[in-house]
Amino acid sequence: MRRGRRRQFGVLPRTPCKIARAFMTLPDYAIEAKGLVKTYPASKTMAEKKALKGIDLAIPRGSMFGLLGPNGAGKSTFINILAGLCAKTAGEVSIWGTNIDQHPRAARAAIGVVAQELAADVFFTPRESLETQAGLYGVPKAERRTMEILGALGLGDKADAYVRALSGGMKRRLMVAKALVHQPPVLILDEPTAGVDVELRRQLWAYVRELNARGVTIVLTTHYLEEAQELCDTIAIVNHGQVVACEPTRQLLGRLDTKAVVITPQVPLTVVPDLNGFDGKLRPDGRLAITFKTQAANVEAVLSAVRAAGVGIKDLSTEDPDLEDVFLALTYNDPNAQDPTRERA
Ligand SMILES: Nc1ncnc2c1ncn2[C@@H]1O[C@H](COP(=O)(O)OP(=O)(O)O)[C@@H](O)[C@H]1O
Ligand SMILES: [Mg+2]
Repeated sequence: MRRGRRRQFGVLPRTPCKIARAFMTLPDYAIEAKGLVKTYPASKTMAEKKALKGIDLAIPRGSMFGLLGPNGAGKSTFINILAGLCAKTAGEVSIWGTNIDQHPRAARAAIGVVAQELAADVFFTPRESLETQAGLYGVPKAERRTMEILGALGLGDKADAYVRALSGGMKRRLMVAKALVHQPPVLILDEPTAGVDVELRRQLWAYVRELNARGVTIVLTTHYLEEAQELCDTIAIVNHGQVVACEPTRQLLGRLDTKAVVITPQVPLTVVPDLNGFDGKLRPDGRLAITFKTQAANVEAVLSAVRAAGVGIKDLSTEDPDLEDVFLALTYNDPNAQDPTRERA
């Protein structure tokens, strides 16, 4: 469905290039997948693998969308199908309102994809690399913004350096730069911060946020829960090739009606005392975390149980559930569930 015209185009607002102008009509969804299936056929060494088992996803235009799931969930397979790097087995996909089977070139011109694997043309400089990419997308010379993009990604002074002389973090940023040469209205990043240091991560996210604020739809996959929780306005959780949840982040976090009271006991505990039916866990730092259902109990009831157990309270705080709790709750009955990584500072 198309609606209206946009006044301003995303990545680089004032004078959009020819390709960018082609995407000035606005679909409601940047990406729509219906019944998407991918089965990798068996090979000599590996059995057949059903990587996507019927994915339905609608990624709203303008969102900062997180595709979250443990390793092997099917995130990269999904992205690679969008990028045209992998053929789907069944289902329908539209990018910016254009069906990828009917108009593959037009559909793909609407996205810039930063793949999970670090790939760099070692014989080119960043400037040449971006110029070549622009050429592949048919961006006329006069409309190229090579230096502007390199500058925005902090690579301005590396424009003429050999790519093999760049650090891993710089190569990653160069990949993002390449994905932006044709000013796509949708930028897809597959695990862009895996193995990337904290400072670079911060820079990359600041830039991605800026793009999003200018109207670019961002889709990112990650297995870092905290990253997704902090950045994304909408999150889909995938597990074993299926979408188990897709909601605004706040709503997803609100799904669990649990809270925890965390107590520092006056005297260190060696075992969890009987807490009148409440579930308590001793943390490695010696604090006692007691979870309760907000529908059924409250902090006062928890504290009464703690006092009744004879535990003196030195300090206390409460905690709301985070994405890890939600993820575990959603995959709780799955014996093969694998925890995604939770970053610990
Ligand atoms: N080229 C391939 N051939 C066979 N199996 C594959 C291939 N690529 C991925 N898989 C399998 O498909 C599943 C999903 O993989 P992937 O999409 O990479 O997951 P994620 O990106 O979420 O970690 C995994 O079990 C993986 O081993
Ligand atoms: Mg992956």
